[in-house]
Amino acid sequence: MQKPNLTKAKKRTNEQSMIIDCFNREIEKIGQNKTYFIKTYGCQMNEHDTEKMQAILENLGFSEAKIMEEANLILLNTCSIRENANNKVFGMVGRLKKIKEANPNVILGLCGCMAQEEVVVEKILNTYPWLDLVFGTHNFSDLPKLLKTQMLNKEMLVEVYSKEGEIYEGLPVKRKYQHKAWVNIMYGCDKFCTYCIVPYTRGKQRSRLKKDILNEVNDLKNKGVLEITLLGQNVNAYGKDLKDDYAFIDLLTDIAKTNIPRIRFMTSHPWDFDENMIDVFKKYSNLTPHIHLPIQSGSDRILKLMGRNYTKEAYINLYQKLKTIPNMHISTDIIVGFPGESDLDFQETLAVVEKCQFDYAFTFIFSKRTGTPAAKMRDDVLFKTKQERLQTLNRAIEKYCLKSNQKFLNQIIPVLIDDVSEKDKQVLTGYSNTMKRVNLKGDKKLIGQIVPVKITEVKTWSLFGEVVERN
Ligand code: 5AD
Ligand code: SF4
Repeated sequence: MQKPNLTKAKKRTNEQSMIIDCFNREIEKIGQNKTYFIKTYGCQMNEHDTEKMQAILENLGFSEAKIMEEANLILLNTCSIRENANNKVFGMVGRLKKIKEANPNVILGLCGCMAQEEVVVEKILNTYPWLDLVFGTHNFSDLPKLLKTQMLNKEMLVEVYSKEGEIYEGLPVKRKYQHKAWVNIMYGCDKFCTYCIVPYTRGKQRSRLKKDILNEVNDLKNKGVLEITLLGQNVNAYGKDLKDDYAFIDLLTDIAKTNIPRIRFMTSHPWDFDENMIDVFKKYSNLTPHIHLPIQSGSDRILKLMGRNYTKEAYINLYQKLKTIPNMHISTDIIVGFPGESDLDFQETLAVVEKCQFDYAFTFIFSKRTGTPAAKMRDDVLFKTKQERLQTLNRAIEKYCLKSNQKFLNQIIPVLIDDVSEKDKQVLTGYSNTMKRVNLKGDKKLIGQIVPVKITEVKTWSLFGEVVERN
């Protein structure tokens, strides 16, 4: 049994990460005639890890089950960014007990960020003995070996590495869409914002090599992919751990030159943002005019306590420069109720929202994550006050999100159609290049295409439109 350890997970070395070549790995068909179901929580990084695990499992002979209860293997790919994310997963683990009772042969696994937390693994060992397999973010590529061991021994197997992981190249991927794809450019994060568990659960920053990223991107281009999203916890720091001068701006330029119609990236940290990027955006129209740039707080005092390394003024300055890029849309993340946040601090956050008028934002109440510095900070803000602040903030965010959407009314904009809407099968859904969700009535044949759409209705969180016939 290998349990996680947050103190070890925090350690950083200067060594460059090892690259493990997984191309053409020998695989035994241990999943023949068996099915799997993966439930994914959290961010795109997790969604993309799931795509890789799906492909690994299908190479082992497993096929995907449509219904969780019918699968021979159930994996929960978890998120631990806030406590309520953990609670949701624990609720699901409770539900899995019934499935185990009905079918003792089912293999139940928990993986992803929560598995990297000491407290979670202890809780699993003490409270949820019906789980069969626990593995972390650094070793999901060992899935074939872990499954085989579990199948033979039939005991709970916990294998979580705290050491920063290697970089695995050549893992297979089962992509959800043919027309758009995620591409990891780096793993982990070295920023250690004081509230955040990610540098512990995902380990130190490891950038993929330029050649490996460009090979993947060119391969996607040759397959006709229309949109790629470059993924990393802090993409602007790409390359800082490599021993060459190739930075994010160089990578982005090389990827823009492939002429893939839409190139996105996330997430950006203002700390590492190279303002020369503005020229790159102006030069390459396939860099989509949207940047997710978390501010977290508008109070310099709180930003300092958060360890964000920029001031409100520096953020606004960068924001305004980015806004000189034609049609640029900027979204953000904001945390309210950080330990000791005063009403004045909160008013400063509101003032920045009024000034920047973000195109949209994700807002959160501070959640105490065991092992992070902020978890030890004195917190005298009542939860009720935090809730009220969140509501006030959300009202301001919604106002500007609607305003940002309203300018699209009666405009014709290109939309990449992803799918039929989950809510209404008669409706198609996709995104504008500015990352606005657009719903429309149209033929399913349009899925996977970029089509001109006239916006006929505007809501706070989405646009509605109709396809403009091309002559
Ligand atoms: N509490 C609340 N929000 C958090 N985030 C990260 N850690 C926490 C936490 N402990 C938010 C940040 C980050 C987003 C992905 O989640 O705003 O940008
Ligand atoms: Fe967490 Fe900060 Fe790293 Fe983002 S930059 S993953 S908020 S530590």
